[in-house]
Amino acid sequence: MVMHQLERLKPNLLRTSRKMKSSNLGWFSVVAILLTSILTFSQASQRVRTGVFLSPKIELEPGLSSNKLYFDVDFPRGHIALKSFDAEVVDEAGNPVPLYETYLHHWLVERYFVRKGLGTRRDISRLNSSDYVSGRNGGICNDGVLDQFFGLGSETRKTATHIPDPYGIEIGNPAEIPSGFEETWAINVHAIDTRGVEDRMGCAECRCDLFNVTTDESGSPLSPNYKGGLFCCYDGARCRRKAGSNDIKRTLYLRYTVRWVDMDSSIVPVKVYIFDVVDLWRRSRNSTGINAEHNCRVEYNIERCRSTGSTGNGCIDKKTISLDMPFSGYVIYGVAHLHTGGSGSALYRKNGRPLCSSVPEYGKGKEAGNEAGYVVGMSTCYPKPGSVKISKGETLILESNYSSIQQHTGVMGLFYLLVAEKLP
Ligand SMILES: *[C@@H]1O[C@H](CO)[C@@H](O)[C@H](O)[C@H]1NC(C)=O
Ligand SMILES: *[C@@H]1O[C@H](CO)[C@@H](O)[C@H](O)[C@H]1NC(C)=O
Repeated sequence: MVMHQLERLKPNLLRTSRKMKSSNLGWFSVVAILLTSILTFSQASQRVRTGVFLSPKIELEPGLSSNKLYFDVDFPRGHIALKSFDAEVVDEAGNPVPLYETYLHHWLVERYFVRKGLGTRRDISRLNSSDYVSGRNGGICNDGVLDQFFGLGSETRKTATHIPDPYGIEIGNPAEIPSGFEETWAINVHAIDTRGVEDRMGCAECRCDLFNVTTDESGSPLSPNYKGGLFCCYDGARCRRKAGSNDIKRTLYLRYTVRWVDMDSSIVPVKVYIFDVVDLWRRSRNSTGINAEHNCRVEYNIERCRSTGSTGNGCIDKKTISLDMPFSGYVIYGVAHLHTGGSGSALYRKNGRPLCSSVPEYGKGKEAGNEAGYVVGMSTCYPKPGSVKISKGETLILESNYSSIQQHTGVMGLFYLLVAEKLP
């Protein structure tokens, strides 16, 4: 079953991290370190710092999928509040790489607490499971799934991530770090090299036939009904290439820009929540009252519509889910994550009133950030702080639309909300 496979995905990612070593100490890192020390000033009196960092090397060649978890990555330290996280894939000269060459399936930023005294540049695959714990986001999926603080895909270059003043994501709070542990950060980058492949979109959608895959990464057979998704484009899997295509290797990086301020009483913390339109959840009862057990399946497929007309108008796959909110607070920011074919996503109240919506922008050209046919950005929602309140126990409806003119595999319908428990 797909859901069990998804739960297995993370251990597999962790295992592959053994292969990568942090030997990325060329001139490029020196530049990154220099940039890290550049300070800028915001309009407010709070000093906003900017750090530009590089992931470890991502080694690709035509057709190859790279899906690795980089543990202990460069990240701002201390008791601070994050204000934005932007990223893009660049080559060794620092030039942006377009999506039709390297499809950025996703990247995720996750927090861990690791036992002190184990050194730096730790390798998670060599740590005992008692030596680290996840420092996950606010929820609402089951543990180990969608627990990131930030994460997008092809839309990264044109999606706003900034958090308005005086809000921020508080990290490095000594009171939240288990005693004897320290906070560290991991980045998972999933990139697919689609130079010279037979079907660029098919590779980007992880179609199992194109990857010639019938078992998952660990060798367990996939259901014949599983046509595409993460289990077919695991780390090291190869997508079918055109005859005669060459295999020029290249080394890429995820370059990420983080902005933050020092934490003080003027900053109002926001929590990160992620909703999944294919969350198979059910209400349950425990000692603290009504609760919910979530099973976020993350991916789903879009079947091709059986349209009688020739234009295909009305071929929209609309998925909705009702979710009980386990928290209360004020919405500060919202954004959806959709794949190619996506046409819009929104959160509604039970009475149908819209709360937040996010629609994709498709590229129209060749340059990085405007690649024709790809989702190059998602619109975001910044309600006037205080104007959109969610009450604990309230039911919200998440809607996620895709065009079904073509079949799509491994699509997603996620929605991120940043929520402040209180106002300034
Ligand atoms: C696909 O996989 C099968 C079994 O692993 C292998 O025999 C075959 O050569 C592969 N085909 C291609 C085109 O790589
Ligand atoms: C989704 O599609 C339905 C039916 O076409 C439409 O009524 C609705 O407004 C769409 N929602 C979003 C968020 O795009």
